[in-house]
Amino acid sequence: MIHFIIEGKEFEVADEVGKTLLEIAFSNGISIKHACLQGVCRKCRVLVEEGMMFLSDPSDQEQEEISDELEQGTRLACQSKIVGHGKIVVSQE
Ligand code: FES
Repeated sequence: MIHFIIEGKEFEVADEVGKTLLEIAFSNGISIKHACLQGVCRKCRVLVEEGMMFLSDPSDQEQEEISDELEQGTRLACQSKIVGHGKIVVSQE
């Protein structure tokens, strides 16, 4: 079970491992800014406040586009995939 808080909206999902933060937000009626879905436009930048350990390591695109922000917890929602169950708290930047 994954407990999400995205943009202040709380919900739980059972089997979303492998899906991106953006896909999960959409399927739960939460709008996150986006455009390219390829990790290039940077519009889907989000701040992961909790649960980074349940997300994939930064993709090559994230390393390239937001390398200076990764340490502060910023991720690209179209690139960050769920890899484990727990609590994940995300807000848009
Ligand atoms: S939608 Fe463009 S970087 Fe994620």
